[in-house]
Amino acid sequence: MTEYTDYSLIHHNTFGLPARCHRFIEYSGVDELCEALSQLRAERTPWMHIGRGSNLVFVGDYEGTILHSALTGIDVEAVGSDEVLVTAGAGIVWDDLVAWTLQRGYYGLENLSLIPGEVGAAAVQNIGAYGVEAARFIDSVQTVDAATGHPATLPCSECRYAYRHSVFKEADAPRRIVTAVTFRLRRTFTPHLDYAALRDRIAADGIDCAALTADMLRSIIVRIRREKLPDPDQQGSAGSFFMNPVVDAATFAALQAAHPDIPHYPAPDGIKLSAGWLIDRAGWRGRSMGPAGVWGKQALVLVNLGGATGTDVLRLAAAVQRDVLRQFGITLRPEAILVGESPDWPLDGSI
Ligand code: EPU
Repeated sequence: MTEYTDYSLIHHNTFGLPARCHRFIEYSGVDELCEALSQLRAERTPWMHIGRGSNLVFVGDYEGTILHSALTGIDVEAVGSDEVLVTAGAGIVWDDLVAWTLQRGYYGLENLSLIPGEVGAAAVQNIGAYGVEAARFIDSVQTVDAATGHPATLPCSECRYAYRHSVFKEADAPRRIVTAVTFRLRRTFTPHLDYAALRDRIAADGIDCAALTADMLRSIIVRIRREKLPDPDQQGSAGSFFMNPVVDAATFAALQAAHPDIPHYPAPDGIKLSAGWLIDRAGWRGRSMGPAGVWGKQALVLVNLGGATGTDVLRLAAAVQRDVLRQFGITLRPEAILVGESPDWPLDGSI
């Protein structure tokens, strides 16, 4: 177990925001995690768990302990002739796992290539891209109950997965830490091509879908992401800052009457709109406020143009949110988790 006090978090959030925490603990075994949790219970001080910090906005310092997993083992179990269960430690970098599975001929995760973050956070956040969500391949999630230190394995059906949601995000559920995730993958490659923009790209590249391999699909996804999204080494960001809003049929009909070209997708609980399109149409794509900006190639992404603080990012986010509300009557909710903002902040999504 590695422990630091008064520790800088600038390299632990992909936005590159300056913040410090009182203590930072990195554990490399479940026993070490349980020891750290028991110490935190005894101290009764605040704590939070982070992954790569690719979905976090530190608005100020964190006056508590931050836990980080260095659990990096991978196990494989064959199930019948076509399926494998791959159990990956929560601290593995997500895209390293995707690459690892594809190298071995275990298919399923290719559409989720290059998403920043770690395996544990992928299961908490139910990461998704190009028509696929992580939950589709999750068999079970291994956890430790923070209140008792007891381990428990939750089958996927108990994880309450929905769009960017899981039981691990629910404030009234027991606080659990994900230690490993088991994915059910296949040895037969079946491309997931539900996402229209992905099919369009494959057609534009002159590729015959029947000849598509998993490696080709991964390369295409990587290329699309690199074209649209900022390079994390060059430009701080937390990926999509807002979630795509879901509206009811009547709200959608009114919006479509006013904006016939509004992108929309069916969702289990209504009609999903594109927050990026709304922000773009509200005139914010490529604009900035001080050192925080809206990315010019994808308006859903807010970026650190250099030296931004969490307050700069939130000031911009609130201005965007206000204009989208004024123009379309829709309140955008952040996908990014805001740590330490003032209670009267207009955004909804705080912890
Ligand atoms: N659009 C615009 N202007 C913009 C951005 C988007 O008009 O500035 C339009 C696009 O032309 C398209 C639609 O909005 O018609 C959707 O855009 P896109 O395909 O880029 O997807 P998205 O809904 O904006 C979501 C995820 C991304 C994921 C992509 C691809 C959320 C919050 N975001 O974005 O996830 O990569 O789909 O599947 O669901 C992330 O979570 O960090 C992330 C990047």
